[in-house]
Amino acid sequence: MGQCYNLIMKKFSIPFNKPSITNKEKKYVLQALYSNKLCGDGAFTKKVNNLFKEKFNVNNFLLTTSCSSALDMSAILLDLKKGDEVILPSYTFVSTANAVVLRGATPVFCDVEKDTMNINANLIEGLITSKTKAIYVVHYAGVVCDMDKIMAIAKKHNIYVVEDAAQAVGSYYKGKAAGTIGDMGCYSFHETKNYAMGEGGALIVNNPKFLERAEIIREKGTNRSQFLRGQIDKYTWQDAGSSFLPSEILAALLLAQLERFDEIMAKRLNIWHTYHTQLKKLEDKGLIELEKEPVNGSTLNAHMFYVLAKDIEERTQLISYLKSKNISTAFHYVPLHSAPFAKRILKEMPDLPVTDSYSARLLRLPMFADLTNKEVEYVINSIYEFYKENR
Ligand SMILES: Cc1ncc(COP(=O)(O)O)c(C=O)c1O
Repeated sequence: MGQCYNLIMKKFSIPFNKPSITNKEKKYVLQALYSNKLCGDGAFTKKVNNLFKEKFNVNNFLLTTSCSSALDMSAILLDLKKGDEVILPSYTFVSTANAVVLRGATPVFCDVEKDTMNINANLIEGLITSKTKAIYVVHYAGVVCDMDKIMAIAKKHNIYVVEDAAQAVGSYYKGKAAGTIGDMGCYSFHETKNYAMGEGGALIVNNPKFLERAEIIREKGTNRSQFLRGQIDKYTWQDAGSSFLPSEILAALLLAQLERFDEIMAKRLNIWHTYHTQLKKLEDKGLIELEKEPVNGSTLNAHMFYVLAKDIEERTQLISYLKSKNISTAFHYVPLHSAPFAKRILKEMPDLPVTDSYSARLLRLPMFADLTNKEVEYVINSIYEFYKENR
């Protein structure tokens, strides 16, 4: 029986991520292909906009080619320039910092909280100077940062807040959708995100003062959006901009994913809770730490499920063990302040103890909507085997 079980288990090959594609995605993409309109801002993009408005109360939603380009747009809109400082976590994807650095501004890295890996709101005020222009927060793992505290600090010091909500599509903070709380929010619809269009994202413009210019920057610096709405009779060069809008083919793919929002969310949450409850015994025995359920008013969108090993050596061993069982896992960001480029641009190294120690221990387990119960069980059993514990 044991041997038979092993043979069955050997058949598993579990990727870290796999986009969920059904006949709906295929049908919409084909419709887009034959719609005689392949460029951006056609019927599928409009449907995506309406869906965000109606389902999530997200207004002023501009579909972009990626979250990176939405972040770039936000930095252009804030007029970030040399001499400005922007506070952000070091524990983030390069795009958050690139947006700042590409405008010539200086990133000021803040440490994160142990329980969420989100920016530690209590440390922000200590980093504010007369040069601080904005705070870029990152909702790690889809858990929204302490936005009440952050918005109060920003208001007090008259600085802007941009939410990097790349991972937080479908999460809420005290009833508000992630990305709708700061002056602007940025979403990702990259293949690795909960709702995917291959490469794609969105800029959400919450501060009305940025809206008109945001549309112009997205349309190569022209007022073409106003022209398409019939508000003007020709469109012209108005500002420095670029091409930030994605094709209708990708918008069609995204629409199909969003129409399956509830199904995809339910499946991911089910996997998240299975990992959480079934690995709890290892946490109780002090062998591992588990990602926590949010307690600050944020909901969970099950973007990822991560565990924290004892140290980097144990994490490396766990990765190899799971790889030997055909399970792909992934660690996450190498903190930006420790990266070669940061060493070139930072005048002094920040002291970020939580970022340094926790990033080295964090390991993400396979998480995607089509992961089966049997596969989740296999991952959990394999982790128990690694720690030589019975379930
Ligand atoms: C926090 C964060 N910001 C931005 C991005 C960039 O997203 P995109 O690939 O859509 O440009 C990512 C990608 O993983 C991310 O995790």
